[in-house]
Amino acid sequence: MTLEKDMQAWIAQARHRIGESALEPEFRRIGRVELIGDGVARVAGLPHTKLGELLRFEDGTLGLAMTVEEAFVGCVLLSSDETISAGGRVYGTGEVARVPVGEDLLGRVISPVGEALDDGPPIVAERMDPLERPAPGIVDRDLVTEPLLTGLTVVDSMIPLGRGQRQLVIGDRKTGKTTIAIDTIINQRDTDVICIYASIGQKASTFARVIKSVRDHGAAERCIFVMGASDAAPGAQWITPYAACTIAEYFRDRGRHALLILDDLTKHAIIYRQLSLILRNPPGREAYPGDVFYLHSRLLERAAKLSEQNGGGSLTALPLAETQSGNLTAYIPTNLISITDGQIYLEPKLFYEGQKPAVNVGMSVSRVGGATQARAIKSLANTLKLDYAQFLELEVFTRFGAMVDDRTLKKIEHGRRLRAILRQEEYSPLPLSLQVALLLAVTEGRMDALPVAEVERFREMLAKRLPTERPRAVAEINETKEVTDEARAALLEIVDACAAELTQVREGDEA
Ligand SMILES: Nc1ncnc2c1ncn2[C@@H]1O[C@H](COP(=O)(O)OP(=O)(O)O)[C@@H](O)[C@H]1O
Ligand SMILES: [Mg+2]
Repeated sequence: MTLEKDMQAWIAQARHRIGESALEPEFRRIGRVELIGDGVARVAGLPHTKLGELLRFEDGTLGLAMTVEEAFVGCVLLSSDETISAGGRVYGTGEVARVPVGEDLLGRVISPVGEALDDGPPIVAERMDPLERPAPGIVDRDLVTEPLLTGLTVVDSMIPLGRGQRQLVIGDRKTGKTTIAIDTIINQRDTDVICIYASIGQKASTFARVIKSVRDHGAAERCIFVMGASDAAPGAQWITPYAACTIAEYFRDRGRHALLILDDLTKHAIIYRQLSLILRNPPGREAYPGDVFYLHSRLLERAAKLSEQNGGGSLTALPLAETQSGNLTAYIPTNLISITDGQIYLEPKLFYEGQKPAVNVGMSVSRVGGATQARAIKSLANTLKLDYAQFLELEVFTRFGAMVDDRTLKKIEHGRRLRAILRQEEYSPLPLSLQVALLLAVTEGRMDALPVAEVERFREMLAKRLPTERPRAVAEINETKEVTDEARAALLEIVDACAAELTQVREGDEA
């Protein structure tokens, strides 16, 4: 009897306690790891997962749903898979992957999920934006008309870039692709352009070189480095270009100007192929999955020049791509060439001859180009590309010992000086005023008496004397990007003085 009473009292008490507690039913989608390894996991028991959804593993590791099938989800891990084992739990988050964006990122080195990789404090996100965002529509855009100067005379004069353009830098390994990217970043030090450099599957040492050279020569406090280097998880490498693009879009959407460098997209395609093959997606041409074209086109479409109503910001994209023995017709290079607004093609032969940057002018093009070119250069560069192509052909011709007339000979001598001017050491982008002075010197024939070997010294002398002796003309050209007749005369005066001095020195030597 008492036992029953005690029991009832106890139950009543327990009921009361449960009623007091704040326990709420909680809905969680829980699956199970079926297979794990090589940076991917197969997860069973999450039937309603969406493509691109973020999954959380028991140990906190994040993954992205890359394939969704009836029986399982193929998931790409964003960090190391060492602490995950088969049978472990997986939670569906219902969220897409996001990356922190904002001013706080300037000057920082981060991973594609926004962890600080330098010795600075943790990143404070102004907002978390999704990695994948739709590209601006056609009515939200404006024409690309503002120049984006690289400081490399060969590019600025013959393959001019504009803000909002997508320009591919393509060539074999070790032909100077990364160096062109670095020089372009360095050249933005006196502009309002914010540079975002994404390393995709590159060696950590390459990444370190980029950071060091930008810190030494450029304005690193206005750059953001996103690292998905080859030692990062394949999933992290895969999302790096999207994360970097989202970070760049933050600035574009606020009426500012961003330059996004993707180094490089060939590696990106290879990582995507690797992940796809492990997840057993059907392979297509060159074993790449069928949607590899879409992978890159939807990424590069996010580069844009926005219309005035949308703030007038811009996102310029410089994707890099590596070819095998100069084969531009391989799958990924042709895809990228067709997606972008032009390409800068680098050639090993030129590189070994010492013609650096090793740009093959004939095979390079900027399809937005002319409309954006700084007016100061445009008038000088009109026929430059054609003249240069003619010269290269003539030079080959005369190598066979052909007899040539004086006019041809003159053309060749002219071309040799032009070629010498297009040569440029790394980390030394030139201001517009100096480029204009050099091009003036060639096109006006003011260097014809100067031996080709002296061109390097001529440039150095000009670089020293121009800003000190004609500061007004120099400032005016760099600012307005135009040359008045007055400025032109001022430049020519110094050009002549330098040429005369160097020619005299040489004559003196010979005497
Ligand atoms: N304009 C240049 N002047 C001098 N050295 C250069 C120039 N461009 C590239 N190099 C050198 O060539 C090497 C390969 O360049 P890199 O940009 O790393 O090539 P890629 O990215 O195509 O593999 C580097 O050691 C770099 O210092
Ligand atoms: Mg490189």
